[in-house]
Amino acid sequence: MATEIHIHHGPLVIGAGLAGLSVALNTAPHATLVLAPVALGVACSSAWAQGGIAAALSPEDTPKDHETDTINAGAGIVDELAAKTLTEMGPGTVHKLNAMGAPFDHKADGSFVLNREAAHGLARVARVGGDLAGKAILEAVVNTALAAPHIEIWEPAFALGLIRSDDETVIGAVVDYGGRRVEVYAPVVIMASGGSGGLFAVTTNPANLRGEGMAMAALAGAVIADPEFVQFHPTALKFGLDPAPLATEALRGEGATLIDKTGHRFVFDDHPDGELAPRDIVARAVHKADLNGGAFLDAREAIGEHFPAEFPTVFASCMAQGLDPRVQPMPVAPAAHYHMGGIRTDIDGRTSLKNLFAVGECASTGVHGANRLASNSLLEAAAFGERIGIAATTDLHPAAFAPDTETAIRPLLPPVLAPADLQALRNEMSHQAGVVRDEAGLTALLGLVDRLDLRYPGALALVNARLIATCALHRRESRGSHYRSDYPQTDVEGRRTYITWAEVQNRAGEPTECSSQACLTS
Ligand code: SIN
Repeated sequence: MATEIHIHHGPLVIGAGLAGLSVALNTAPHATLVLAPVALGVACSSAWAQGGIAAALSPEDTPKDHETDTINAGAGIVDELAAKTLTEMGPGTVHKLNAMGAPFDHKADGSFVLNREAAHGLARVARVGGDLAGKAILEAVVNTALAAPHIEIWEPAFALGLIRSDDETVIGAVVDYGGRRVEVYAPVVIMASGGSGGLFAVTTNPANLRGEGMAMAALAGAVIADPEFVQFHPTALKFGLDPAPLATEALRGEGATLIDKTGHRFVFDDHPDGELAPRDIVARAVHKADLNGGAFLDAREAIGEHFPAEFPTVFASCMAQGLDPRVQPMPVAPAAHYHMGGIRTDIDGRTSLKNLFAVGECASTGVHGANRLASNSLLEAAAFGERIGIAATTDLHPAAFAPDTETAIRPLLPPVLAPADLQALRNEMSHQAGVVRDEAGLTALLGLVDRLDLRYPGALALVNARLIATCALHRRESRGSHYRSDYPQTDVEGRRTYITWAEVQNRAGEPTECSSQACLTS
Protein backbone atom coordinates (compact mmCIF):
# COMPACT_ATOMS: atom_id res chain seq x y z
CA MET A 1 0.00 0.00 0.00
CA ALA A 2 1.39 3.43 -0.95
CA THR A 3 1.95 5.75 1.98
CA GLU A 4 0.83 9.36 1.72
CA ILE A 5 2.52 12.19 3.57
CA HIS A 6 0.51 14.90 5.28
CA ILE A 7 2.25 17.80 7.03
CA HIS A 8 -0.13 19.33 9.54
CA HIS A 9 0.81 22.73 10.95
CA GLY A 10 -0.93 22.39 14.31
CA PRO A 11 -1.73 19.89 17.06
CA LEU A 12 -2.54 16.29 16.15
CA VAL A 13 -4.94 14.71 18.67
CA ILE A 14 -5.11 10.90 18.64
CA GLY A 15 -8.56 10.00 19.97
CA ALA A 16 -11.95 11.69 19.97
CA GLY A 17 -13.53 10.83 23.33
CA LEU A 18 -14.12 13.42 26.03
CA ALA A 19 -10.39 13.88 26.67
CA GLY A 20 -9.36 14.31 23.03
CA LEU A 21 -12.20 16.67 22.16
CA SER A 22 -11.65 18.71 25.34
CA VAL A 23 -8.04 19.18 24.25
CA ALA A 24 -9.12 20.22 20.76
CA LEU A 25 -11.62 22.75 22.10
CA ASN A 26 -8.76 24.47 23.89
CA THR A 27 -6.19 24.71 21.11
CA ALA A 28 -7.80 27.56 19.13
CA PRO A 29 -6.79 29.31 16.99
CA HIS A 30 -4.32 26.59 15.97
CA ALA A 31 -5.60 24.25 13.27
CA THR A 32 -6.16 21.00 15.13
CA LEU A 33 -6.50 17.60 13.54
CA VAL A 34 -8.41 14.97 15.56
CA LEU A 35 -8.35 11.26 14.71
CA ALA A 36 -11.65 9.50 15.52
CA PRO A 37 -11.36 5.71 15.21
CA VAL A 38 -15.14 5.24 15.15
CA ALA A 39 -18.15 7.50 14.72
CA LEU A 40 -17.98 10.42 17.13
CA GLY A 41 -19.65 9.86 20.48
CA VAL A 42 -20.11 6.12 20.01
CA ALA A 43 -17.54 3.51 21.07
CA CYS A 44 -15.52 5.44 23.59
CA SER A 45 -15.56 4.88 27.33
CA SER A 46 -16.62 8.43 28.15
CA ALA A 47 -19.86 7.96 26.18
CA TRP A 48 -20.59 4.81 28.15
CA ALA A 49 -20.07 6.33 31.60
CA GLN A 50 -23.30 6.15 33.57
CA GLY A 51 -22.81 7.61 37.02
CA GLY A 52 -21.72 11.12 36.17
CA ILE A 53 -18.98 13.59 36.93
CA ALA A 54 -17.63 14.20 40.42
CA ALA A 55 -17.13 17.78 41.63
CA ALA A 56 -17.64 19.79 44.81
CA LEU A 57 -20.91 21.42 43.76
CA SER A 58 -23.00 21.49 46.93
CA PRO A 59 -22.75 24.05 49.74
CA GLU A 60 -21.69 21.27 52.14
CA ASP A 61 -18.77 20.24 49.92
CA THR A 62 -15.35 21.69 49.10
CA PRO A 63 -12.64 20.85 46.55
CA LYS A 64 -10.42 20.06 49.54
CA ASP A 65 -12.86 17.35 50.73
CA HIS A 66 -13.03 15.96 47.20
CA GLU A 67 -9.23 15.97 47.09
CA THR A 68 -9.06 14.10 50.41
CA ASP A 69 -11.46 11.40 49.19
CA THR A 70 -9.47 11.09 45.96
CA ILE A 71 -6.23 10.65 47.89
CA ASN A 72 -7.75 8.16 50.33
CA ALA A 73 -9.28 6.05 47.56
CA GLY A 74 -5.93 5.95 45.75
CA ALA A 75 -4.34 3.80 48.47
CA GLY A 76 -1.17 5.74 49.21
CA ILE A 77 0.20 6.57 45.78
CA VAL A 78 -1.93 9.47 44.54
CA ASP A 79 0.02 12.42 43.19
CA GLU A 80 -1.26 15.09 45.54
CA LEU A 81 -0.65 18.02 43.21
CA ALA A 82 -2.65 16.27 40.50
CA ALA A 83 -5.50 15.57 42.95
CA LYS A 84 -5.54 19.16 44.15
CA THR A 85 -5.46 20.54 40.62
CA LEU A 86 -8.24 18.24 39.43
CA THR A 87 -10.60 18.79 42.32
CA GLU A 88 -10.12 22.56 42.27
CA MET A 89 -11.06 22.55 38.59
CA GLY A 90 -14.13 20.38 39.30
CA PRO A 91 -16.94 22.90 39.82
CA GLY A 92 -15.77 25.19 37.01
CA THR A 93 -15.51 22.27 34.60
CA VAL A 94 -19.05 21.07 35.32
CA HIS A 95 -20.41 24.60 34.89
CA LYS A 96 -18.61 24.90 31.53
CA LEU A 97 -20.02 21.57 30.33
CA ASN A 98 -23.45 22.68 31.47
CA ALA A 99 -23.08 25.91 29.52
CA MET A 100 -21.97 23.88 26.49
CA GLY A 101 -25.34 22.12 26.57
CA ALA A 102 -24.79 19.05 28.76
CA PRO A 103 -28.27 18.71 30.29
CA PHE A 104 -27.37 17.97 33.91
CA ASP A 105 -30.23 17.09 36.24
CA HIS A 106 -31.19 20.11 38.36
CA LYS A 107 -33.46 20.55 41.34
CA ALA A 108 -36.30 23.07 41.37
CA ASP A 109 -34.00 25.65 43.00
CA GLY A 110 -31.52 25.32 40.12
CA SER A 111 -28.86 23.39 42.03
CA PHE A 112 -27.38 20.18 40.64
CA VAL A 113 -28.91 16.81 41.55
CA LEU A 114 -26.00 14.92 43.08
CA ASN A 115 -25.56 11.16 43.48
CA ARG A 116 -23.56 9.43 46.17
CA GLU A 117 -20.99 6.88 45.03
CA ALA A 118 -18.57 4.64 46.88
CA ALA A 119 -15.71 6.21 48.87
CA HIS A 120 -17.10 9.74 48.42
CA GLY A 121 -17.78 11.38 51.78
CA LEU A 122 -21.06 12.82 50.51
CA ALA A 123 -23.25 13.10 47.41
CA ARG A 124 -20.99 14.69 44.81
CA VAL A 125 -21.68 13.17 41.40
CA ALA A 126 -23.55 15.39 38.93
CA ARG A 127 -25.72 13.26 36.72
CA VAL A 128 -27.76 13.50 33.52
CA GLY A 129 -31.09 11.76 33.02
CA GLY A 130 -30.30 9.33 35.81
CA ASP A 131 -27.59 7.19 34.20
CA LEU A 132 -26.99 8.93 30.85
CA ALA A 133 -24.19 11.27 31.91
CA GLY A 134 -21.39 10.12 29.62
CA LYS A 135 -23.52 10.02 26.49
CA ALA A 136 -25.13 13.41 27.10
CA ILE A 137 -21.91 15.19 28.08
CA LEU A 138 -20.10 13.80 25.07
CA GLU A 139 -22.95 14.80 22.77
CA ALA A 140 -22.65 18.41 23.92
CA VAL A 141 -18.88 18.36 23.48
CA VAL A 142 -19.09 16.69 20.04
CA ASN A 143 -21.56 19.31 18.83
CA THR A 144 -19.32 22.10 20.05
CA ALA A 145 -16.27 20.53 18.41
CA LEU A 146 -18.08 20.02 15.10
CA ALA A 147 -18.97 23.72 15.09
CA ALA A 148 -15.43 24.87 15.91
CA PRO A 149 -13.70 26.21 12.80
CA HIS A 150 -10.19 25.33 13.99
CA ILE A 151 -10.99 21.61 14.41
CA GLU A 152 -10.75 19.09 11.57
CA ILE A 153 -11.85 15.53 12.28
CA TRP A 154 -10.71 12.48 10.34
CA GLU A 155 -13.13 9.58 10.77
CA PRO A 156 -12.53 6.67 10.79
CA ALA A 157 -8.85 7.17 11.51
CA PHE A 158 -6.51 5.61 14.03
CA ALA A 159 -2.80 5.74 14.72
CA LEU A 160 -0.55 2.73 14.17
CA GLY A 161 2.64 4.13 15.66
CA LEU A 162 4.52 7.32 16.48
CA ILE A 163 7.09 8.94 14.17
CA ARG A 164 10.20 10.51 15.76
CA SER A 165 13.00 12.75 14.55
CA ASP A 166 15.38 11.31 17.13
CA ASP A 167 15.16 9.05 20.19
CA GLU A 168 13.43 11.74 22.24
CA THR A 169 11.29 13.77 19.89
CA VAL A 170 7.91 12.89 18.42
CA ILE A 171 7.01 14.51 15.09
CA GLY A 172 3.87 12.65 14.06
CA ALA A 173 2.11 9.35 13.65
CA VAL A 174 1.46 6.75 11.00
CA VAL A 175 -2.30 6.73 10.55
CA ASP A 176 -4.86 4.46 8.97
CA TYR A 177 -7.43 6.85 7.52
CA GLY A 178 -10.34 4.88 6.13
CA GLY A 179 -7.94 2.23 4.80
CA ARG A 180 -5.37 4.72 3.44
CA ARG A 181 -1.93 4.73 5.07
CA VAL A 182 -0.90 8.31 5.88
CA GLU A 183 2.20 9.63 7.64
CA VAL A 184 0.88 12.65 9.52
CA TYR A 185 3.60 15.04 10.70
CA ALA A 186 2.70 17.59 13.39
CA PRO A 187 4.61 19.90 15.73
CA VAL A 188 2.79 18.51 18.75
CA VAL A 189 1.00 15.19 19.22
CA ILE A 190 -1.55 14.58 21.98
CA MET A 191 -2.39 10.98 22.81
CA ALA A 192 -5.99 10.69 24.01
CA SER A 193 -6.70 7.16 22.87
CA GLY A 194 -8.47 5.74 25.95
CA GLY A 195 -7.90 2.74 28.17
CA SER A 196 -7.10 -0.95 28.06
CA GLY A 197 -10.33 -2.68 29.11
CA GLY A 198 -10.68 -4.53 25.79
CA LEU A 199 -7.56 -6.51 26.67
CA PHE A 200 -9.67 -8.38 29.23
CA ALA A 201 -12.36 -10.94 28.38
CA VAL A 202 -14.78 -9.33 30.82
CA THR A 203 -14.90 -5.56 30.49
CA THR A 204 -17.33 -2.67 30.60
CA ASN A 205 -15.25 -0.79 27.98
CA PRO A 206 -15.68 -0.81 24.21
CA ALA A 207 -13.84 -3.94 23.03
CA ASN A 208 -11.73 -1.98 20.53
CA LEU A 209 -9.88 -0.16 23.34
CA ARG A 210 -6.83 -2.24 24.13
CA GLY A 211 -4.38 0.38 25.31
CA GLU A 212 -3.00 1.14 21.86
CA GLY A 213 -1.89 4.64 22.91
CA MET A 214 0.10 3.38 25.86
CA ALA A 215 1.71 0.72 23.67
CA MET A 216 2.64 3.16 20.89
CA ALA A 217 4.15 5.56 23.40
CA ALA A 218 6.06 2.74 25.12
CA LEU A 219 7.45 1.53 21.78
CA ALA A 220 8.56 5.10 21.02
CA GLY A 221 10.50 5.15 24.33
CA ALA A 222 8.12 7.03 26.64
CA VAL A 223 8.10 6.29 30.37
CA ILE A 224 5.02 4.33 31.43
CA ALA A 225 3.60 4.67 34.95
CA ASP A 226 1.72 2.13 37.10
CA PRO A 227 0.58 -0.22 34.31
CA GLU A 228 -0.31 -2.94 36.84
CA PHE A 229 -3.16 -0.86 38.27
CA VAL A 230 -6.37 -1.80 36.46
CA GLN A 231 -9.66 -1.06 38.18
CA PHE A 232 -12.41 -3.69 38.13
CA HIS A 233 -15.94 -2.40 38.44
CA PRO A 234 -17.79 -4.55 40.99
CA THR A 235 -21.14 -4.64 39.24
CA ALA A 236 -21.06 -5.46 35.56
CA LEU A 237 -24.24 -7.28 34.57
CA LYS A 238 -23.45 -10.96 34.21
CA PHE A 239 -25.39 -11.85 31.08
CA GLY A 240 -22.45 -13.34 29.18
CA LEU A 241 -22.24 -10.29 26.89
CA ASP A 242 -19.03 -8.76 25.52
CA PRO A 243 -18.62 -5.98 26.55
CA ALA A 244 -20.51 -6.52 29.79
CA PRO A 245 -23.17 -3.83 30.46
CA LEU A 246 -22.49 -1.70 33.50
CA ALA A 247 -24.82 -1.41 36.48
CA THR A 248 -23.78 1.98 37.79
CA GLU A 249 -22.51 2.42 41.31
CA ALA A 250 -25.20 5.09 41.70
CA LEU A 251 -27.64 2.20 42.17
CA ARG A 252 -25.80 1.32 45.37
CA GLY A 253 -25.69 5.01 46.24
CA GLU A 254 -29.51 4.91 46.07
CA GLY A 255 -29.63 1.93 48.41
CA ALA A 256 -29.44 -1.14 46.15
CA THR A 257 -27.78 -4.00 48.02
CA LEU A 258 -25.38 -6.77 47.07
CA ILE A 259 -26.56 -10.22 48.08
CA ASP A 260 -25.33 -13.76 47.56
CA LYS A 261 -27.46 -16.70 46.54
CA THR A 262 -28.80 -16.98 50.10
CA GLY A 263 -29.76 -13.30 50.29
CA HIS A 264 -26.86 -12.42 52.61
CA ARG A 265 -25.37 -8.90 52.23
CA PHE A 266 -21.85 -10.21 51.92
CA VAL A 267 -19.81 -7.01 51.51
CA PHE A 268 -20.36 -6.22 55.20
CA ASP A 269 -18.28 -9.32 55.96
CA ASP A 270 -15.27 -7.45 54.52
CA HIS A 271 -15.93 -3.77 55.24
CA PRO A 272 -18.19 -1.76 57.58
CA ASP A 273 -19.31 0.49 54.70
CA GLY A 274 -20.78 -2.51 52.90
CA GLU A 275 -21.89 -1.70 49.36
CA LEU A 276 -20.31 1.77 49.56
CA ALA A 277 -16.85 0.52 50.56
CA PRO A 278 -13.95 1.40 48.21
CA ARG A 279 -14.39 -0.11 44.79
CA ASP A 280 -11.52 -2.61 45.01
CA ILE A 281 -12.90 -4.10 48.21
CA VAL A 282 -16.40 -4.43 46.78
CA ALA A 283 -15.00 -5.94 43.57
CA ARG A 284 -13.11 -8.63 45.49
CA ALA A 285 -16.17 -9.42 47.62
CA VAL A 286 -18.34 -9.73 44.48
CA HIS A 287 -15.67 -11.90 42.83
CA LYS A 288 -15.66 -14.24 45.82
CA ALA A 289 -19.47 -14.46 45.96
CA ASP A 290 -19.59 -15.03 42.21
CA LEU A 291 -17.22 -17.99 42.52
CA ASN A 292 -19.35 -19.34 45.38
CA GLY A 293 -22.64 -19.51 43.54
CA GLY A 294 -23.45 -15.98 42.43
CA ALA A 295 -23.57 -12.29 43.36
CA PHE A 296 -26.68 -10.20 42.81
CA LEU A 297 -27.47 -6.51 42.90
CA ASP A 298 -30.87 -6.10 44.49
CA ALA A 299 -32.70 -2.85 43.69
CA ARG A 300 -36.21 -4.16 44.32
CA GLU A 301 -36.78 -2.32 47.56
CA ALA A 302 -34.57 0.76 47.23
CA ILE A 303 -35.49 1.69 43.66
CA GLY A 304 -38.33 -0.57 42.57
CA GLU A 305 -40.84 1.17 40.32
CA HIS A 306 -38.55 4.19 39.84
CA PHE A 307 -36.00 2.05 38.02
CA PRO A 308 -36.96 2.86 34.40
CA ALA A 309 -37.01 6.62 35.00
CA GLU A 310 -33.96 6.78 37.27
CA PHE A 311 -31.68 4.30 35.50
CA PRO A 312 -32.92 3.94 31.92
CA THR A 313 -29.68 2.48 30.54
CA VAL A 314 -29.37 -0.26 33.15
CA PHE A 315 -33.09 -0.96 32.89
CA ALA A 316 -32.88 -1.40 29.11
CA SER A 317 -29.83 -3.70 29.46
CA CYS A 318 -31.73 -5.92 31.90
CA MET A 319 -35.01 -5.98 30.02
CA ALA A 320 -33.16 -6.89 26.80
CA GLN A 321 -32.05 -10.05 28.62
CA GLY A 322 -35.52 -10.76 29.99
CA LEU A 323 -34.78 -9.64 33.53
CA ASP A 324 -36.95 -7.02 35.22
CA PRO A 325 -34.82 -5.32 37.89
CA ARG A 326 -37.91 -3.89 39.57
CA VAL A 327 -38.81 -7.39 40.71
CA GLN A 328 -35.65 -9.50 40.24
CA PRO A 329 -32.09 -9.12 41.58
CA MET A 330 -29.51 -8.60 38.83
CA PRO A 331 -26.63 -11.11 38.45
CA VAL A 332 -23.33 -9.22 38.61
CA ALA A 333 -19.59 -9.85 38.39
CA PRO A 334 -16.52 -7.60 38.33
CA ALA A 335 -15.24 -6.39 34.96
CA ALA A 336 -12.14 -4.48 33.82
CA HIS A 337 -13.29 -0.88 33.84
CA TYR A 338 -10.52 1.69 34.08
CA HIS A 339 -6.74 1.78 33.69
CA MET A 340 -5.08 3.96 36.33
CA GLY A 341 -1.73 3.25 34.67
CA GLY A 342 -0.66 4.75 31.38
CA ILE A 343 1.79 7.11 29.74
CA ARG A 344 3.51 9.01 32.51
CA THR A 345 2.70 12.72 32.45
CA ASP A 346 2.90 15.79 34.61
CA ILE A 347 -0.28 17.77 35.32
CA ASP A 348 0.09 19.56 32.00
CA GLY A 349 0.14 16.30 30.09
CA ARG A 350 3.85 16.40 29.25
CA THR A 351 5.33 12.96 28.72
CA SER A 352 9.01 11.99 28.82
CA LEU A 353 9.20 12.52 25.03
CA LYS A 354 9.42 15.98 23.47
CA ASN A 355 6.27 17.17 21.70
CA LEU A 356 4.23 14.21 22.98
CA PHE A 357 1.42 14.93 25.42
CA ALA A 358 -1.09 12.46 26.85
CA VAL A 359 -4.46 12.91 28.52
CA GLY A 360 -7.38 10.88 29.84
CA GLU A 361 -7.28 7.17 30.47
CA CYS A 362 -4.18 6.48 28.34
CA ALA A 363 -2.22 8.90 30.57
CA SER A 364 -1.09 8.49 34.14
CA THR A 365 -0.73 11.74 36.05
CA GLY A 366 -0.95 9.77 39.30
CA VAL A 367 -4.27 11.41 40.16
CA HIS A 368 -6.01 8.06 40.57
CA GLY A 369 -3.24 6.28 42.45
CA ALA A 370 -3.96 2.59 42.87
CA ASN A 371 -7.73 2.91 42.83
CA ARG A 372 -9.68 5.64 41.04
CA LEU A 373 -12.45 7.36 42.96
CA ALA A 374 -15.76 6.81 41.17
CA SER A 375 -16.73 9.44 38.58
CA ASN A 376 -13.37 11.20 38.69
CA SER A 377 -12.52 10.09 35.17
CA LEU A 378 -15.04 12.20 33.22
CA LEU A 379 -13.79 15.12 35.31
CA GLU A 380 -10.19 14.24 34.51
CA ALA A 381 -10.92 13.98 30.78
CA ALA A 382 -12.66 17.36 30.62
CA ALA A 383 -10.56 19.32 33.12
CA PHE A 384 -7.12 18.01 32.17
CA GLY A 385 -8.20 18.07 28.52
CA GLU A 386 -8.61 21.83 28.90
CA ARG A 387 -5.24 22.18 30.68
CA ILE A 388 -3.44 20.14 28.08
CA GLY A 389 -4.99 21.90 25.12
CA ILE A 390 -3.61 25.12 26.56
CA ALA A 391 -0.22 23.67 27.58
CA ALA A 392 0.36 21.98 24.23
CA THR A 393 -0.19 25.19 22.29
CA THR A 394 1.57 27.65 24.56
CA ASP A 395 4.67 28.77 22.68
CA LEU A 396 3.71 26.65 19.68
CA HIS A 397 4.95 28.02 16.34
CA PRO A 398 3.33 25.74 13.79
CA ALA A 399 4.40 27.80 10.79
CA ALA A 400 8.03 27.03 11.61
CA PHE A 401 7.39 23.28 11.61
CA ALA A 402 9.42 21.68 8.82
CA PRO A 403 9.97 17.99 9.51
CA ASP A 404 12.62 16.09 7.60
CA THR A 405 10.53 13.23 6.28
CA GLU A 406 13.61 11.59 4.73
CA THR A 407 15.36 10.99 8.04
CA ALA A 408 12.25 10.45 10.19
CA ILE A 409 12.28 7.36 12.42
CA ARG A 410 9.16 5.44 11.47
CA PRO A 411 7.54 2.81 13.69
CA LEU A 412 7.35 -0.81 12.64
CA LEU A 413 3.74 -1.35 11.70
CA PRO A 414 2.19 -3.54 14.39
CA PRO A 415 0.70 -6.91 13.46
CA VAL A 416 -2.86 -7.57 14.58
CA LEU A 417 -3.77 -10.74 16.48
CA ALA A 418 -6.15 -13.15 14.79
CA PRO A 419 -9.52 -13.20 16.64
CA ALA A 420 -8.93 -16.59 18.30
CA ASP A 421 -5.49 -15.53 19.57
CA LEU A 422 -6.83 -12.22 20.82
CA GLN A 423 -9.61 -14.03 22.67
CA ALA A 424 -7.08 -16.42 24.24
CA LEU A 425 -5.09 -13.41 25.43
CA ARG A 426 -8.20 -11.68 26.80
CA ASN A 427 -9.29 -14.82 28.66
CA GLU A 428 -5.87 -15.19 30.24
CA MET A 429 -5.74 -11.48 31.17
CA SER A 430 -9.08 -11.75 32.98
CA HIS A 431 -8.10 -15.01 34.62
CA GLN A 432 -4.51 -14.25 35.65
CA ALA A 433 -4.30 -10.45 35.82
CA GLY A 434 -7.84 -9.87 37.08
CA VAL A 435 -9.30 -9.11 40.50
CA VAL A 436 -7.04 -11.63 42.26
CA ARG A 437 -3.49 -12.27 41.02
CA ASP A 438 -0.58 -14.48 42.00
CA GLU A 439 2.88 -15.33 40.80
CA ALA A 440 1.96 -18.61 39.13
CA GLY A 441 -0.90 -17.03 37.19
CA LEU A 442 1.04 -13.97 36.07
CA THR A 443 3.95 -16.17 35.00
CA ALA A 444 1.58 -18.32 32.97
CA LEU A 445 0.13 -15.20 31.38
CA LEU A 446 3.61 -13.97 30.43
CA GLY A 447 4.27 -17.40 28.93
CA LEU A 448 1.27 -16.96 26.64
CA VAL A 449 2.43 -13.45 25.71
CA ASP A 450 5.88 -14.89 24.85
CA ARG A 451 4.36 -17.53 22.61
CA LEU A 452 2.06 -15.06 20.83
CA ASP A 453 4.97 -12.64 20.43
CA LEU A 454 6.78 -15.15 18.23
CA ARG A 455 3.91 -14.90 15.77
CA TYR A 456 2.92 -11.26 16.25
CA PRO A 457 6.09 -9.39 17.21
CA GLY A 458 5.33 -5.84 18.30
CA ALA A 459 1.52 -6.29 18.38
CA LEU A 460 0.15 -3.45 20.49
CA ALA A 461 -2.12 -5.74 22.54
CA LEU A 462 0.92 -7.86 23.46
CA VAL A 463 3.00 -4.84 24.41
CA ASN A 464 0.28 -3.76 26.82
CA ALA A 465 -0.33 -7.21 28.20
CA ARG A 466 3.40 -7.56 28.88
CA LEU A 467 3.59 -4.16 30.59
CA ILE A 468 0.63 -4.97 32.84
CA ALA A 469 1.66 -8.54 33.67
CA THR A 470 5.35 -7.81 34.23
CA CYS A 471 4.68 -4.95 36.60
CA ALA A 472 1.93 -6.91 38.38
CA LEU A 473 4.37 -9.78 38.84
CA HIS A 474 7.03 -7.53 40.30
CA ARG A 475 4.76 -5.61 42.66
CA ARG A 476 4.89 -8.02 45.56
CA GLU A 477 2.26 -6.39 47.71
CA SER A 478 -1.46 -5.68 47.49
CA ARG A 479 -2.54 -2.10 47.01
CA GLY A 480 -5.82 -0.70 45.73
CA SER A 481 -6.92 -2.54 42.61
CA HIS A 482 -3.78 -4.72 42.53
CA TYR A 483 -4.44 -7.68 44.81
CA ARG A 484 -1.90 -10.49 45.14
CA SER A 485 -3.22 -13.54 47.00
CA ASP A 486 0.42 -14.57 47.57
CA TYR A 487 1.37 -11.10 48.88
CA PRO A 488 -1.78 -9.82 50.60
CA GLN A 489 0.07 -7.23 52.71
CA THR A 490 0.36 -3.54 51.79
CA ASP A 491 3.88 -2.16 52.04
CA VAL A 492 4.29 0.65 54.54
CA GLU A 493 5.71 2.92 51.91
CA GLY A 494 3.68 3.46 48.78
CA ARG A 495 5.67 3.60 45.56
CA ARG A 496 4.68 4.19 42.00
CA THR A 497 6.00 2.23 39.05
CA TYR A 498 7.89 4.00 36.30
CA ILE A 499 9.21 1.86 33.49
CA THR A 500 10.24 1.94 29.84
CA TRP A 501 9.66 -0.67 27.20
CA ALA A 502 13.42 -1.35 27.06
CA GLU A 503 13.40 -2.10 30.80
CA VAL A 504 10.41 -4.41 30.48
CA GLN A 505 12.14 -6.34 27.72
CA ASN A 506 15.35 -6.64 29.73
CA ARG A 507 13.32 -8.15 32.51
CA ALA A 508 11.81 -10.85 30.29
CA GLY A 509 12.52 -14.26 31.74
CA GLU A 510 13.74 -12.78 35.00
CA PRO A 511 12.24 -15.09 37.59
CA THR A 512 10.62 -13.29 40.44
CA GLU A 513 13.30 -11.30 42.13
CA CYS A 514 12.08 -7.72 42.34
CA SER A 515 14.96 -5.30 42.17
CA SER A 516 12.52 -2.62 43.02
CA GLN A 517 14.92 0.29 42.70
CA ALA A 518 15.95 -0.67 39.21
CA CYS A 519 12.44 -1.53 38.48
CA LEU A 520 10.50 0.76 38.60
CA THR A 521 10.13 2.91 41.47
CA SER A 522 9.94 6.61 42.04
C1 SIN B 1 -20.44 3.96 37.60
O1 SIN B 1 -21.37 4.65 37.20
O2 SIN B 1 -20.53 3.12 38.47
C2 SIN B 1 -19.11 4.18 36.97
C3 SIN B 1 -18.58 5.46 37.37
C4 SIN B 1 -17.11 5.44 37.26
O3 SIN B 1 -16.54 4.40 37.00
O4 SIN B 1 -16.51 6.48 37.47
